[in-house]
Amino acid sequence: MSAHLQAPKGTRDLFGNDVRDFAVLETVARQVFSLYSFEEVRTPIFEHVELFARSLGDTSDVVQKEMFSFTDRGERTFALRPEGTASIVRYFIEQNLAVKGGSHRLFYMGPMFRAERPQAGRYRQFWQIGCEYFGSAEPSADADIVIILATILKSFHIGDFSIHVNSLGCKTCRQAYRETLLGYLKGKESILSAESKERMTKNPLRVLDSKVDGPKLGDAPVMKDHLCGACRAHYGQFLSLLTSASFKVEENPRLVRGLDYYNGPVFEVVSPLLGAQSAVGAGGRYDELVSSLGGARVPAVGFALGMDRVVLAHQKLEKSALPVDGNGLLIIPMVDDALPVAFALAHELRSLGYRVPPVSAKKKLKNQLSLAVDLGANWAILIGEDELKTKEITLKNLQTRTQEKIAMKDVATQLKKQRTVR
Ligand code: HAM
Repeated sequence: MSAHLQAPKGTRDLFGNDVRDFAVLETVARQVFSLYSFEEVRTPIFEHVELFARSLGDTSDVVQKEMFSFTDRGERTFALRPEGTASIVRYFIEQNLAVKGGSHRLFYMGPMFRAERPQAGRYRQFWQIGCEYFGSAEPSADADIVIILATILKSFHIGDFSIHVNSLGCKTCRQAYRETLLGYLKGKESILSAESKERMTKNPLRVLDSKVDGPKLGDAPVMKDHLCGACRAHYGQFLSLLTSASFKVEENPRLVRGLDYYNGPVFEVVSPLLGAQSAVGAGGRYDELVSSLGGARVPAVGFALGMDRVVLAHQKLEKSALPVDGNGLLIIPMVDDALPVAFALAHELRSLGYRVPPVSAKKKLKNQLSLAVDLGANWAILIGEDELKTKEITLKNLQTRTQEKIAMKDVATQLKKQRTVR
C-alpha cells in the first residue's frame, strides 16, 4: 500500500480490546468526576495557534517543535490542540465564568496532537482525560486533584503506581531560585550538553530534569529549599492532606514539567508497568494562566492522564474481557427459508436488550458457532427445517454445551428464566 494510504506516522487505529478499554476508562472517569461535581466540557480540537504559544510558553518543546499548525484560506493560523488546559482556560474566559464567582470544576476527554518522535506509549495523536479546577487557591484543591487522578487509576484496576510531587514556588520565589540555580549551572557549563546549555538560557529549571545531565548535578540547589513562607506552607499542607487521606507520595525535588504555566505544587504519576514512557498522568497548579490570557485573577489546578498509556498498563495486568453480562446471543438460520423468522426474532430480542449480531443464512454452522464464542455470546439459537415445521427453536447454551427445544413464542420468557437461574 502506498505510504500515503496508511495511517500517518505516530497515529494508530483503535479497535477491539483497545476501544473497549478506552470506553470503560471513560465511564470510570465520568463516575469519579461526578463524585467531585466536575462537569464535562467539549472544546474544538483546533484553536488559534497563539492560544497555545501564550499558554504553554514560547520556549516549551511542545510549542517550539511539536505543534501541528496550519493556515486556513483566510490566512489564519491554527494548531491541533497539543493538550487540553489552554482550551479549557480559553473557554473559562470566553464564557465569563469568573464573573459568577465561586469555583468551577470542568473535565474533558479527547484526542491531542504532538509531533513527537513516536515510540511505545508515545504517539502523535494520543488521548487524554483531564480536569481543571478554577477558583480555589487552597491546598485541599491540589490534594483533591491528585486523589481524583489516583482514584481513576485504581477504579480501572491499576493499583501499582507512584505519585511524584514537587513545588515550583510562586513567581517571586522562583525568580530568586532561578538566579541561584543559574549561578550554579554557570560553574558547570563545561560538563553540560548542548541541549542543557540551551535550556539554561530559556528555562534553567529544566536542566535538572535532563536525563543526560541531571545525574551529574547531584549537589544543585533545589526549589524546595528556596520556597517563600507562603509557598512552603501551601506545599506542606498539600502533602499532609494527602497523607491524612492515606495517599503515599514521593517528593521529587527535580520534577519540573515541560509546560511553562505551572506554579506551586506539581505532580507526575508513574507506572512501573511501562517502559521509557512511564508517566501515565501529570498536572499541577497554574494560578497565573487565566490572567495572562486576559481573564481575571483566578487560581487553578488540574491534571491530564494519558489514556493510551493507562490502557497499555491495564492490558499488561489484565486481559481485556468481553462483556460477560449474559446478554449475548447468536441466531443461526440453518436453511434459507428460516431467514425471515430468524431476522424477526433477532429484532425482537434486541428490543429486549440482548446483543444479537446480524443474522446470516450463508455462513457455515461451525464458523457461526466459533464466531458466537468470539463475540462473548452465551447462547445460540438454531432454526432449521424441523424447527420451522414445529414452530420451535433449538436453544444452545454455549457455556454448558446443552441444548433444548423451545416454542418460538416462548423464547423471550425462557431466556429470561435462564438468566435468572444463572
Ligand atoms: P502533560 O504532562 O504534557 O500535561 O501530559 C499529560 C499526560 O498525557 C502524560 O503524563 C502522558 O500520560 C500523556 N501524554 C503526553 N504526551 C503524550 C504522547 N505523545 N503520547 C501518549 N501520551 C502522551 C498536560 O498535558 C497538562 N495539560 C496537564 C494539566 C492539566 N496540567 C494542569 N491541568
